[in-house]
Amino acid sequence: MASKCTVDGGASHCCIIALITALMLLSHCCIASPAPPSKQTRPPPALILFGDSIVDPGNNNALTTTVRCDFAPYGQDFPGHNATGRFSNGKIVGDILATRMGLKQYVPAYLGTELSDFDLLTGVSFASGGCGFDPLTAEIVSVLTLDDQLDLFKEYKGKIRAIAGEQRAAEIVSTSMFLVVSGTDDLANTYFTTPLRRDYDLESYIEFIVKCASDFIQKLYGMGARRVSIAGAPPIGCVPSQRTNAGGDDRACVSLYNQAAVLYNAALEKEIKRLNGSALLPGSVLKYIDLYTPLLDMIQRPAAYGFEVSNRGCCGTGLFEVTLTCNSYTAHACRDPTKFLFWDTFHLTERGYDLLMAQIINRYGLW
Ligand SMILES: *[C@@H]1O[C@H](CO)[C@@H](O)[C@H](O)[C@H]1NC(C)=O
Ligand SMILES: *[C@@H]1O[C@H](CO)[C@@H](O)[C@H](O)[C@H]1NC(C)=O
Repeated sequence: MASKCTVDGGASHCCIIALITALMLLSHCCIASPAPPSKQTRPPPALILFGDSIVDPGNNNALTTTVRCDFAPYGQDFPGHNATGRFSNGKIVGDILATRMGLKQYVPAYLGTELSDFDLLTGVSFASGGCGFDPLTAEIVSVLTLDDQLDLFKEYKGKIRAIAGEQRAAEIVSTSMFLVVSGTDDLANTYFTTPLRRDYDLESYIEFIVKCASDFIQKLYGMGARRVSIAGAPPIGCVPSQRTNAGGDDRACVSLYNQAAVLYNAALEKEIKRLNGSALLPGSVLKYIDLYTPLLDMIQRPAAYGFEVSNRGCCGTGLFEVTLTCNSYTAHACRDPTKFLFWDTFHLTERGYDLLMAQIINRYGLW
């Protein structure tokens, strides 16, 4: 059993992705201002994102993959009703965070769009919907692995060097905020849905993807990143698609999948603590971001957050529509997406992401 983070055949390595709805939250009770950033750190000049659909603002539009959403009703609440490739009705996590950081309203995809100097200097997303830490996860659906994303980051660094000069570019990289959201698709898709990793039991698969995550963090550090936040998995078993697939007639949360997320999160957090500021990665400031707890609370107590529905998506019947099956020919969006936590069967509505992020920022600060 491989403990190296490579796919048989060696095509690529770990990526980031994810599907899900992992992310951050907040609640009415936490309207208080977010924890102030520590006094001695200046605001990061840029926000740079790696991972899966939670933080992919449209990179997949430039790929030949079915993991895409560059069509209505996606983006219906985005300016101009633009289906930019964001996996929601409006803004996603990177946009919300960049806005709260005072950087900009939207974090653009690195691929497929004309980027201004300002866009580049204040941060972009390399994330690709469907990616995981296990390189196989991205390969199954022909999206960018995390290693592919790092290759693009290398190219990006060349561009900011050309704009800002060698020294300033290095400074931007070492002081920027990096957010990595991945791992969910490894468990939900590759491990539980396909037979491709059946040679692993759950425990050894978790060990493998945490190793991949650790390798990725170390490579990112090697390329100059210092402030890196890594999100854990959400309650995968309560995501509408998993309820439909494995939750029985009453579409209950799938406890095995939630347990897997809990085990994975504990192992990931432990590894992040081990690496954080260690002799291996001197000067690193790593954070583990718990998405599981706030999102589970939103799912279990939707009314406390002003939602009416948290067990199905807003798109279509809400039982199975996601990406290609959530389209304006066969599926209408619900009348009021602000009443739904989930936009499709895997991703939150803009309001869902907004309230999740508020909780995360409240707990961890902005950077
Ligand atoms: C829609 O979004 C794309 C990608 O972000 C952008 O290039 C384009 O200008 C936008 N179109 C409109 C009409 O806003
Ligand atoms: C990493 O170390 C910093 C201090 O440098 C600390 O604030 C942070 O909480 C640590 N992260 C984790 C996951 O323990």
